[in-house]
Amino acid sequence: MTTARAVWTSQGLQQLVKRELGDCHLVVVSNRQPYIYKLLDGQVSYEMPAGGLTNAIDPLMQSCGGTWIAHGGGTGDRLVVESGNKVMVPPHDPSYTLRLLWLTEEEEQGYYYGFSNNALWPLCHNAYTEPQFRSRDWQAYRRVNELFAQQVLDEVGNRPAVVFTQDYHLALLSNLLKDSNPDIITGQFWHIPWPNPDIFRICPWQDEILEGVLGNDVLGFHIGEHSNNFVETVARSLDARVDRDYSLVNFRGGTTLVRPFPISVDFDEIERESRSAAVTREMDALTEELGLEGLIVGLGIDRIDYTKGIPHRFRAIGRFFQKYPQYREKVVFVQAGVMSRTDIDAYQRLAEQVDDLLEEINSRFATAGWKPIIYLPTDLPSTKLMALRRLAQFCVVSSLHDGMNLVAKEYVASRFDEDGVLILSPFAGAALELTQALIVNPYATDDFADNILHAVTMPLEDRQMRMRRMRATVRENNIYKWAAQLLVQMLQLNRRGRFSGAEPALSSAD
Ligand code: F6P
Repeated sequence: MTTARAVWTSQGLQQLVKRELGDCHLVVVSNRQPYIYKLLDGQVSYEMPAGGLTNAIDPLMQSCGGTWIAHGGGTGDRLVVESGNKVMVPPHDPSYTLRLLWLTEEEEQGYYYGFSNNALWPLCHNAYTEPQFRSRDWQAYRRVNELFAQQVLDEVGNRPAVVFTQDYHLALLSNLLKDSNPDIITGQFWHIPWPNPDIFRICPWQDEILEGVLGNDVLGFHIGEHSNNFVETVARSLDARVDRDYSLVNFRGGTTLVRPFPISVDFDEIERESRSAAVTREMDALTEELGLEGLIVGLGIDRIDYTKGIPHRFRAIGRFFQKYPQYREKVVFVQAGVMSRTDIDAYQRLAEQVDDLLEEINSRFATAGWKPIIYLPTDLPSTKLMALRRLAQFCVVSSLHDGMNLVAKEYVASRFDEDGVLILSPFAGAALELTQALIVNPYATDDFADNILHAVTMPLEDRQMRMRRMRATVRENNIYKWAAQLLVQMLQLNRRGRFSGAEPALSSAD
């Protein structure tokens, strides 16, 4: 007899947090805010940013409550905040506090565009873009990390607190917090890969970054390879004691647990939206608007980033139509994209490259009423994106290197009809879990084109068998389980270290 495993839910996480967190204040810190307020023609409206981080953490904060501290980058932000630069969110159904901090243009340039995205981002991704290490960017990065630390310390005051920091923008934060208040429990999730020590050592400030990140009690990565890379980088560079069996690093009297925690999505919520009548209506509207009637649709949804392998994907689509001309006018690829970090040269060059390839492939293969690739380079509302997922017989995730890539999991969660093929790069963390995808090296153009053929011709039964299994994986390993596992690790340290009491139990059943 097989017993179904309990699935983590928002309520299960809420109970865990209530039971274990007690009067501890939960503070999430990230660069990007979950709700951005825009001022347009005298009216304030809001939107949610496109990245995976905010989409993943927002449901947790809605379940757990607490405060989320982030950089306020929206034109309407200052109009909505109240005392302490705080506003309750989500705007339509407030359940937690968003506290914003302001940066000058110069700070944002140096810290966000400069050190975070022109140095650390290319350093951590093997995508052959050279990192730019500029001292003035590093100074701004340090300064902004200090500004975040002041905000967190002010928010926490004398209360017991768990501070959960997100990503590579805030590598120095936890150490700054511990210096001022060693009782704060600190955890950080690094949403991008960690490279091997040979790559990381080119960073002129590698020791400072490692020391900063080791201010965490718990440090999470998506997959074991990134955790191992981190531990090896520490072992090579710092005078630290490394316990590889237990994945612990002891440095200057502090201990950091380093572990993989594969991030995920809110499976039930995505499925609920996907089933909605609004999405079904949108499917009809898009079919009409884009001329998709009778065509097999392939889909890509990405931030326009050089790590996502968009040119590689377009080249494979071109090769597919060249090798298999019988599919012209029968298959169409829809690429939805959100422009990203456009102040950075590498992103501008990528946008041009994508436009050139699009022009080249479409002009080569298009016929009177059909073109191979439809490009939608605008921020599409979530109903449209969901409708596209449901219309797509196959979805392509061709990252050259990616921590996880939640686009893959979102596609799987949206397909309640159990249809659809995922073409997935082995260089995305998601490939370790979604093994029923067609795993394709984005650099191998011919093989990629053949896998597009495979996706287009795969019998329904096979598609369903693969999709069913991928859905079971994502349903079980959802975002609530991810959060529960991370929080439990942090709270265990809490109990063992500074507070008395039993260790918290990890169970979704109660
Ligand atoms: O994937 C890494 C990441 O930083 C995510 O955490 C985030 O959602 C995404 O990139 C978008 O980044 P940005 O906030 O720079 O738009």
